[in-house]
Amino acid sequence: MTAPRAATDSRAAFPPAFRWGAATAAYQIEGAADEDGRTPSIWDTFSRTPGKVRNGDTGDIAADHYHRMREDVALMAGLGLTDYRFSVSWPRVQPTGRGPALQKGLDFYRALVDELLAAGIRPVLTLYHWDLPQELEDAGGWPARDTAYRFAEYAGLVAEALGDRVPTWTTLNEPWCAAFLGYAEGVHAPGRTEPEAALRAAHHLNLAHGLAVGVLRELTRPSSEVLLSLNLAAVRPLSGGRADAEAARRVDALANRVFLDPVFHGRYPRDLISDTAPLTDWSFVEDGDLRIVSRPVDGLGINYYTPTVVGAGSHPLPSPWPAAHDHVGFVPAPGPRTAMDWPVDAGGLYELLVRLRDELPGTPLLVTENGAAYDDYADPAGAVHDPERIAYLRAHLEAVQRAMAAGADVRGYFLWSLLDNFEWAHGYGKRFGLVHVDYATQRRTPKDSASWYADVVARGGLPPK
Ligand code: FCB
Repeated sequence: MTAPRAATDSRAAFPPAFRWGAATAAYQIEGAADEDGRTPSIWDTFSRTPGKVRNGDTGDIAADHYHRMREDVALMAGLGLTDYRFSVSWPRVQPTGRGPALQKGLDFYRALVDELLAAGIRPVLTLYHWDLPQELEDAGGWPARDTAYRFAEYAGLVAEALGDRVPTWTTLNEPWCAAFLGYAEGVHAPGRTEPEAALRAAHHLNLAHGLAVGVLRELTRPSSEVLLSLNLAAVRPLSGGRADAEAARRVDALANRVFLDPVFHGRYPRDLISDTAPLTDWSFVEDGDLRIVSRPVDGLGINYYTPTVVGAGSHPLPSPWPAAHDHVGFVPAPGPRTAMDWPVDAGGLYELLVRLRDELPGTPLLVTENGAAYDDYADPAGAVHDPERIAYLRAHLEAVQRAMAAGADVRGYFLWSLLDNFEWAHGYGKRFGLVHVDYATQRRTPKDSASWYADVVARGGLPPK
């Protein structure tokens, strides 16, 4: 006799304590750019500079979440999310990047956190998702060491206000993008193309992370979790040959080990230092810095979208890969693409999780971002059909399960994103949300993927196909 089929068969089930979330970031959803004392961040300046963001889009209004926060939390509650990952806008809380906090700014996040807790949703707070106060950029930005100390002070202001009620804290989101897209390639704010400055920025972001870990340990509950989120690259050499392996090694150093090694092992990789010797001697790393950078964390957040295939070759300047343009070429992975033109390849997520299982034993992992943009639209009946997104999510959740079965300690999954939003240099053209936003009316319409994800959360696993 065959057993009756469970709602979710056991192969498709995740552990009962698995955290099911969605993620957003302040500048991408809040709008209210000039309200209640908020001052410009580097993203306000960048997006208001002609030619920097597609279509001249800015985050001035975005998804108007600042005014619709309660409606948005109700949407999350409707999806049954256990967790919500959001970021705090630094210039809303500490407008000039120095001095006392602006209470109105903190009040907004206090209200958001209280609304989440009342809905039974665990807040996961990111302190830095790229919106550096413009005044700090004017004083040198992340290439200036002082910015790390300013960040620690800001972390203290947020921790004092919310440390009693936020259980999970993330210091930085994707410092790779902040350092290398912002200061080397210049396609993100502040738009500088100075490869040496980008390496300094990476170190000062690491230092800022470590300083903030210390502050959070002091000012939040002893049970609080402190993490950081990295967009690690699933680097694949084009072939098994030596030259391609060497290209992959260089990119692995610049994308992954530049953060993993100092944070988890208290050192910078030797090969990174010699690869970048034409640009810098790394004397900006001062005595004692690495002890601060490597203060223990409670886990690692991984953001993953698509793999990175590299071979021996060259690529055009400006590039986000300091000192590598003469050595490395990038090759698109095969397979279907999202609207970002990013190849869909869930194997990369598996590879990263299994690598971290081996390299960081005992470190809990959270997938803090994963998702896909497609050209979604509401049909005349008001429905948004997004079967490609559902297929993308299923494939990536299966990859998470495979990695867990292979021993990776993955504790949760946060889908990017709750809402369609301002996709940085791509503006509003790229829709990553589970919930469609009509920017003219700010009407929210859950897509088919929203009901699919709610079903996954409710059954704690993947539904049958
Ligand atoms: C990540 C960012 C996030 C979002 C996704 C698509 O790099 O952290 O804000 O834009 O990409």
